[in-house]
Amino acid sequence: MAGKAWGGRFSEPTNEQVELFTESISFDARLAAVDVKGSQAHARMLAEVGLISKEEADQIQTALDEILIEIQQGKIEFSPSLEDIHMHIESALIARLGDVGRKLHTGRSRNDQVSTDIKLYVRDEIDHLDKLLQQLQRAFVSRDDDLDLILPGYTHLQRAQPVNAVHYWLAYTEKFQRDRERLADCRRRLNFSPLGAAALAGTTLPIDRDQTAKDLGFTAPAANSLDISSDRDYLAELVSSLSLIAIHLSSWAEEWILWCTTEFGFMTLSDAYTTGSSIMPQKKNPDVLELIRGKSARVIAASQQLFVLMKGLPLAYNRDLQEDKLAAFAAIDTIKSCLELAPSIVINAKLNRDKIASRIDDGFLDATALMEYLILRQVPMRTGHEIVGNLVALCESKNCRLKDLSLEEFQKTAPQIDNDVYDVLGAENAVSALRSFGSGGHDSVRHQLKLWQDRLAEN
Ligand code: ARG
Repeated sequence: MAGKAWGGRFSEPTNEQVELFTESISFDARLAAVDVKGSQAHARMLAEVGLISKEEADQIQTALDEILIEIQQGKIEFSPSLEDIHMHIESALIARLGDVGRKLHTGRSRNDQVSTDIKLYVRDEIDHLDKLLQQLQRAFVSRDDDLDLILPGYTHLQRAQPVNAVHYWLAYTEKFQRDRERLADCRRRLNFSPLGAAALAGTTLPIDRDQTAKDLGFTAPAANSLDISSDRDYLAELVSSLSLIAIHLSSWAEEWILWCTTEFGFMTLSDAYTTGSSIMPQKKNPDVLELIRGKSARVIAASQQLFVLMKGLPLAYNRDLQEDKLAAFAAIDTIKSCLELAPSIVINAKLNRDKIASRIDDGFLDATALMEYLILRQVPMRTGHEIVGNLVALCESKNCRLKDLSLEEFQKTAPQIDNDVYDVLGAENAVSALRSFGSGGHDSVRHQLKLWQDRLAEN
């Protein structure tokens, strides 16, 4: 059958609906550059082992360079009848070089070719994502002006204990650091070359897989051709890591959306990163944060899509795997768009210091510090907990704060309490009293901030 690279055994043309149903050119064209890179390495190897001549390899490499430029300039028309980017490039090569072009696919199948391309593509994306995550970390760490500010810390969204405001920024910095490490880990594990696994069994031809692996920057060739042909673990792993980034971004967005409400009143976002309402003139909405939260659904859905896609597949390549790219690309694109916007939002948001300070002594943020004061005076922890619970109840009945109680009132409940109790009461004192490693106390936070500033300045 004319036109199809695989048409030799067919006597009827492919049904047009089938061509439209099976094509992937509409979503895999972005692999053009890595496809060319992989093919050029393959051609160099074929020449090295004597399967094609050196001149033929040179011709192939030059023609592939030209074809890539034409694709990038939109000069090559895509057609569903050529299925995917790999067949488009190969057919353009054959149109140019004739029989020489027909030699490129020697000792290779689209199965190892596709996986090689995806790995090359996601490797670059991982490197880019790492930079974006680093920029976001830098944005949080740049907010060192907030070091003199105290924020309430919450559990169950109820006021819990006070912390230095920068403790919040470093909490996110830590989360994004683990995300970076997960990506680096994923990169390390995926960096084994599929090229030369051919369809599923390897090849009878004397190819040199070590050479192409090295040429393309892989650690080594992957060892089992059957495994390679079916393996998409690396995409599931990558998109799972992206899902965690999405979850981190989404909960950060949720927190700041709450902080921007009149009810919280902690934060004001810059005008440039908010939008208005078509009917309510007063509105300034945190749409970007809401969409960061909303778009996380796409990323999490993509990881589910990959898991479900893979779970029932026998060895080795099955066409189902073509759908992998839709999920992976959606996740990568979405995370990138969120990470590109997030740093500006972080840098430009203003904490409403007066509003925060005016209510920082609400909610008994100092209750735990008071309990620990008792522990340091030999009161057993559970007893101290009970005593402070009673004192809080007393304050609630009197509608006052712990620091408003008189020494007599304190001593009636706990004779161990002295006049120095007032040194740990109030949010400011309670934060200052925090001293453990990793705590939200001022010294601890200043120390951690310095570590992060040095760490992020390094590269
Ligand atoms: N477009 C396909 C994919 O992305 C290419 C592989 C087709 N291989 C095959 N043996 N039909 O997975």
